[in-house]
Amino acid sequence: MTLEFTRTEHPHPVSDGRRAEILAAPGFGNHFTDHMVVVDYDRDRGWHDAKVTPYGPIALDPAAMVLHYAQEIFEGLKAYRQPDGTIAAFRPEANAERFNTSARRLAMPEFPVDDFVGSLRALLDVDNAWVPPAGGEESLYLRPFMFATEASLGVRPANQYRYVLIGSPAGAYFQGGLKPVSVYLCTEYVRASPGGTGSAKFGGNYAASLLAQAQAAEKGCDQVVWLDAIEHKYIEEMGGMNLFFVFGSGSQARLVTPELSGSLLPGVTRKSLLALAADAGYSVEERKISTKELADGVRSGEITEVFACGTAAVITPVGRVQSDTDEYTVGDGTTGEVTQALRDTLTGLQRGTFADTHGWMTRL
Ligand code: COI
Repeated sequence: MTLEFTRTEHPHPVSDGRRAEILAAPGFGNHFTDHMVVVDYDRDRGWHDAKVTPYGPIALDPAAMVLHYAQEIFEGLKAYRQPDGTIAAFRPEANAERFNTSARRLAMPEFPVDDFVGSLRALLDVDNAWVPPAGGEESLYLRPFMFATEASLGVRPANQYRYVLIGSPAGAYFQGGLKPVSVYLCTEYVRASPGGTGSAKFGGNYAASLLAQAQAAEKGCDQVVWLDAIEHKYIEEMGGMNLFFVFGSGSQARLVTPELSGSLLPGVTRKSLLALAADAGYSVEERKISTKELADGVRSGEITEVFACGTAAVITPVGRVQSDTDEYTVGDGTTGEVTQALRDTLTGLQRGTFADTHGWMTRL
């Protein structure tokens, strides 16, 4: 049975003027819509008490298990204003499925795909005006998450959980906008190891990444790049985003992205770009790529472009690579033509100016 969402409207929503100001320059993750969705779970009743409520603080028992043992997963997806004024989300069913893969890995209950999409619709019904106008770079970032609420200090899967959905108008994720980022190849720390939680969108993975990200910043780089946990040799992902390497150029370009090793995140944008790149006639490969292959390939000119992709970052070019022993510029350090073409195709499809040939957009 699908959930019915009750609604309590915010008594003091943000004024139209202030909202327009926010939507004109939202940044990333700084502003939130007037409402949120909350659904509770316990082992006896399953998912129940689905509601849309005013956005605001959540009361938790100090012994809530998430505060001690970090049982928390999340998703990130975007809703876009279409040229006809309607709103559509990019592949929300794929995010819902990944949410459940993450739930299983963290011994949490699954949240039905229909209810996941239903929760997006319930929020957008009331916060429709928070989706930025069509035609720009902005969108409404949607952040569904689930955490253990049961009050207990026993180390075991909790019996009670809460699903929450919040919305945040979003512009470019990186401060420099679409400017190429610099990356630091990290050998001291690893993000995830075989058999670990790396392929789940689990809050703890992000907590564990912060020190290495700070180290990358100290070395003068925008982002950390993670290597495999065993040999510290193969490239896994960048910060919270997947990576692509472009070999060659023009119609001969070949795209390589690290294979899903079990310890990197199976990105929805990554999966979509593999399809869009193949549509565009590029050959695509999912395989291991070592730091040596990257350095040699960039130096010989065989690797012409590198870019990161994710819901938040969309497609962000990588202009410079640094490690403790090496440093080099990718191409001429600016956005490459394949990167730009794929970005235009993906964003055009999401914003309704290119045909949705794969049926990826879901009206909300
Ligand atoms: C996303 O791209 O949606 C992410 O989750 C990356 C980051 C903002 C955590």
